[in-house]
Amino acid sequence: MPRLHPNRLFPCLLLFLILLVPPRPSPVSAQQKPVFACDVDGDPRLKQLGFCDKSKGVSARAADLVKRLTLDEKVTFLVNAAGNVTRLGIPHYEWWSEALHGVSYVGPGTQFSSLIPGATSFPQVILTAASFNTTLFQTIGKVVSTEARAMHNVGLAGLTFWSPNVNIFRDPRWGRGQETPGEDPKLSSKYAANYVRGLQRSDDGSPNKLKVAACCKHYTAYDLDNWKGADRFHFNAIVTPQDLEDTYQPPFRSCVFDGNVASIMCSYNQVNGKPTCADPDLLNGIIRGEWKLNGYIVSDCDSVDVYYRSQHYTKTPEEAAAKAILAGLDLNCGSFLGQYTKGAVNAGLLDESAVDNAVSNNFATLIRLGFFDGDPRKQLYGKLGPADVCSPNNQELAREAARQGIVLLKNTAKSLPLSPRKINSLAVIGPNANATKTMIGNYEGTPCGYVTPLQGLSLSVPTTYVPGCSSVSCGTAQIEDAKKAASSADATVLVMGADQSIERESLDRIDLLLPGQQPMLVSEVANASKGPVILIIMSGGGFDISFAKSNDKITSIMWVGYPGEKGGAAIADIIFGRHNPGGKLPMTWYPQSFADKVPMTNMNMRPDPATGYPGRTYRFYTGDTVYKFGDGLSYTDFSHSLIEAPALVAIPLDENHVCRSSSDCKSFDIQDAACQNVAFDVLVTVRNKGKIKGVHTVFLFSSPPALHQAPQKHLLAFEKVSLSPASEMSVRFFVDVCKDLSIVDEAGHRKVALGTHVLHIGDLTHSLNVRI
Ligand SMILES: *[C@@H]1O[C@H](CO)[C@@H](O)[C@H](O)[C@H]1NC(C)=O
Ligand SMILES: *[C@@H]1O[C@H](CO)[C@@H](O)[C@H](O)[C@H]1NC(C)=O
Ligand SMILES: *[C@@H]1O[C@H](CO)[C@@H](O)[C@H](O)[C@H]1NC(C)=O
Ligand SMILES: *[C@@H]1O[C@H](CO)[C@@H](O)[C@H](O)[C@H]1NC(C)=O
Repeated sequence: MPRLHPNRLFPCLLLFLILLVPPRPSPVSAQQKPVFACDVDGDPRLKQLGFCDKSKGVSARAADLVKRLTLDEKVTFLVNAAGNVTRLGIPHYEWWSEALHGVSYVGPGTQFSSLIPGATSFPQVILTAASFNTTLFQTIGKVVSTEARAMHNVGLAGLTFWSPNVNIFRDPRWGRGQETPGEDPKLSSKYAANYVRGLQRSDDGSPNKLKVAACCKHYTAYDLDNWKGADRFHFNAIVTPQDLEDTYQPPFRSCVFDGNVASIMCSYNQVNGKPTCADPDLLNGIIRGEWKLNGYIVSDCDSVDVYYRSQHYTKTPEEAAAKAILAGLDLNCGSFLGQYTKGAVNAGLLDESAVDNAVSNNFATLIRLGFFDGDPRKQLYGKLGPADVCSPNNQELAREAARQGIVLLKNTAKSLPLSPRKINSLAVIGPNANATKTMIGNYEGTPCGYVTPLQGLSLSVPTTYVPGCSSVSCGTAQIEDAKKAASSADATVLVMGADQSIERESLDRIDLLLPGQQPMLVSEVANASKGPVILIIMSGGGFDISFAKSNDKITSIMWVGYPGEKGGAAIADIIFGRHNPGGKLPMTWYPQSFADKVPMTNMNMRPDPATGYPGRTYRFYTGDTVYKFGDGLSYTDFSHSLIEAPALVAIPLDENHVCRSSSDCKSFDIQDAACQNVAFDVLVTVRNKGKIKGVHTVFLFSSPPALHQAPQKHLLAFEKVSLSPASEMSVRFFVDVCKDLSIVDEAGHRKVALGTHVLHIGDLTHSLNVRI
């Protein structure tokens, strides 16, 4: 999302500075008053205005406001730096704030100051997703919105946050994969709905009020930043109707349907030749028509300008403005619609009523946020203030989230956890061993305070620290000191991987190998080490670390994502056994050969035997992997047993349904009335066979009949459980046949395939026959 377009460097220089220069506490004189409209205490005349009347409904208030505005005034409400109308008591409002994994300083709507110098910085989303804990997704969202409200009350934050990023992580090289919940549509859908609920849900339970407004982005099929000259500002994603419907759209649909999100952001790229922000089918047709968005559609910064100036999609800027608004865009991050919309109306390209409609959607959102209810310090969240930001509980949740997400990938001979009684010295090596800012990834804020891996580990045992490389790019490794430290320590921890110089917004990777001489450093240190060697990969995307996987001297491997401000404490908790890891990979780790042969620009999910294209993600990819989606070990062992699952499900199709008379009917459409309420339960018992407490994610996958190039396997449901030693519990999955078992055909229609669906739970399989 938001980064302004290079062609607009000059006018956007100021914003660039806001974006790129890490914020510094502003002077104490910074504004300490919230921004709000309808200050009826300060100006009793405002009481007469219908839009200030809290007893009226949201749309009536929005309509009242719109009818009081001139066209010149209206167009100022189409852009993120919105206008002000002094005669109506409406101050400027800045729409652009971010809260991907904590309140962020990216976006001009939010700043830190000496009053609130930082906010809780949770793990980057890809690691939180690895927890597969939907309660955690929501709990983090709730804490973030509490901190946001506290900052709003002292004039430091807006109310509209352009988070989360729910694009599918379809290619391991994508620089923004770190921001997403991974490669699976089901997990991404659950993440979207739960994080959004956490951010938005009103403390008084009122469904039409918003605590803050979230925004799911970047709609749609975005997934590429800058790879070998292909960049997001010019990329035309060629997407089949099948892939669009069963891979790219589900997180957005769930975000609107299940999460009731207040906003969707359209992306920079084109989908099949049309810029998403100018596509009436994608915006008005799907988001508003089918999904019934209650809120506003916003452009990426500055998508409209990008499709006019860089993609040359329209001849004039007025046409570009008209196309956006007619497609369903309500708000433009940038200034384009403020400049050209009036001209578009005057040229007859657009009715003023379309502008009314757009600004009404924006006002309705602000009304639901209480912006037109007077001073927020006298409202529902009025008591929140600086003490509610970075509270000990919130910071503890950041540590807990990292613990829940961290994935143990290798643990030969149970060499982890280390016993602090037996280990008297630890060599801590690697360019990320004392990482601070690297741990919070991008779309970050100023954190409350870091615990680096070195600091976390040093609290348990004496450590020797050797960076080994001067940066993660590791041009020349300093191997000798590192080997010496490893050769004399009881155990060695190597903290390697990436940072924003390797993978970030506007920078996709070219290959999947650890940067520079990192592999050599790891191998040499491992060979020289006296005790067990624990390799920690800190990164957003996966790496081809086959060399380490097969090296017997490397006893353990852990992936820690970008683990947030307390990441080092969480890593130490796991290494010393204070927490038993339970995270699972939310994305496939591919070998380097994938990057050598697959163009990042190919959006197809399905393999193509004719060209040797291997397909993408665990659902379709047919090649070798380094680690698989769902991989992740524990310090204990779990077993599953299947208690209950049907062998047969019959669909009560109508007597005269074509499938009744045709013997070669292989699937039927879920639009069919018979598809209502056909469901079954799968009951599984999970047992902790070991001697320590552990957490485990139970996955229910299905392999559908080989029809319509169906996925080889897809996730129907998952459930995270916590189990004491030698105990068991049952997990019940509710499977709606048409929603959960369905696949998408070549034309993009959801179908249920008749025949055998094989359910997978751990190593168990169960055949289920679906017939009519
Ligand atoms: C409000 O807008 C007017 C122009 O319409 C401008 O002159 C004035 O300074 C603005 N007020 C504030 C507080 O920004
Ligand atoms: C590790 O990082 C912390 C935080 O930046 C710093 O205070 C400390 O000096 C570093 N430790 C070493 C040994 O460099
Ligand atoms: C491991 O170290 C020994 C000496 O300690 C050396 O002979 C050997 O070549 C090294 N092996 C590798 C793979 O570096
Ligand atoms: C899921 O996360 C919540 C919130 O942090 C936590 O209370 C709960 O124990 C977690 N569930 C499991 C099974 O770990």
